[in-house]
Amino acid sequence: MDPIVARPKPFLVQLQAGRTYYWCRCGRSKKQPFCDGSHAGTGFEPLKHIAQVEGEEVLFCGCKHSGTAPFCDGAHTNLPGGSPEDDPDSATNRAVPLVTSNDALALLDGGCYVFSPSRAPMITRGTLRYCTAISGELGALYQTQLYVQADAGASPIMSFGDRHVILFISAGEGSVTISGRRFEVTATDGVYVRPGEALQLVHVGGAPLEAFVSACPLGEITWLDEMPQNFDATFPLRTASVDEQQRTAMGPRYFQCLVDKSVGSNLITQFIGHIPQSKAAPHRHLYEEAIIVLAGEGCMWTETRKARVQAGDVIFLPRKQEHSLQATTSRGIDVVGVMYPGDNPSINY
Ligand code: FES
Repeated sequence: MDPIVARPKPFLVQLQAGRTYYWCRCGRSKKQPFCDGSHAGTGFEPLKHIAQVEGEEVLFCGCKHSGTAPFCDGAHTNLPGGSPEDDPDSATNRAVPLVTSNDALALLDGGCYVFSPSRAPMITRGTLRYCTAISGELGALYQTQLYVQADAGASPIMSFGDRHVILFISAGEGSVTISGRRFEVTATDGVYVRPGEALQLVHVGGAPLEAFVSACPLGEITWLDEMPQNFDATFPLRTASVDEQQRTAMGPRYFQCLVDKSVGSNLITQFIGHIPQSKAAPHRHLYEEAIIVLAGEGCMWTETRKARVQAGDVIFLPRKQEHSLQATTSRGIDVVGVMYPGDNPSINY
């Protein structure tokens, strides 16, 4: 017998340390997500969970199909009703004003914003031009993100101290040297740099090598005169490429994790994904996210505002902020997401 889908999305619960929770596995309880004894005679038993961390916020599975029960693993997004859409032309949505900006930032609700590197002043250092897309000053709690362009030759050597660093190569080809170890890279590759290591972009010519460089938690860039030779060889695999075989479906969308635990990045996760022409129903995540728009056009919605997005833009999405990213044309939108804390972009509530 299959469990009943109590509802095709999870329940947000703040835990009390030491308390025992009995998660309803059968889906029949009237006290979701917890057991009320309704499983009697079904063969199902509730799942016991003892909370360890006071005040921790978790998402208990409501669909009863999670592979990581009692917590949501995003399985609900592939069940009927689990990836609801919203009508961008409804009377309510038509009343939402479009935010426009002459500079690089379009501010939405709750600290969410759209940043357009193409309109931002760039700082030049050696062969590198860069600007800051996400930082503590701009409201982030966890992530710093720079957009960088590298011209021919070797860039200055960058360090973010003891932070975890993830790069997404958005254009061009060349290599990234990580603390003395060189990796060939091309557009759409992800790169992981371990805490304490330094990095250098080496561009082979042609159009500039472009990348989004994320440091977590909140990193400050420093410039080194010499490349340290402290490559952490216990994690030899540092680049990840797009591989259609590794795509995970998420309703009508799909994603592939590029940099995640599988290469040693247990603090911050990077994925690449596609959104077909649609507007998802407003939802939230428990992680802070940077969304890089790679291709396509769309609109980012929060409760009372919306802003256009296009290829090259970065959306900063605070933890728990209600939002919806709409792809407005038939080609859809390709995105890269960088998320903390979390490792699964299909978990929403
Ligand atoms: S609610 Fe069941 S997997 Fe998300």
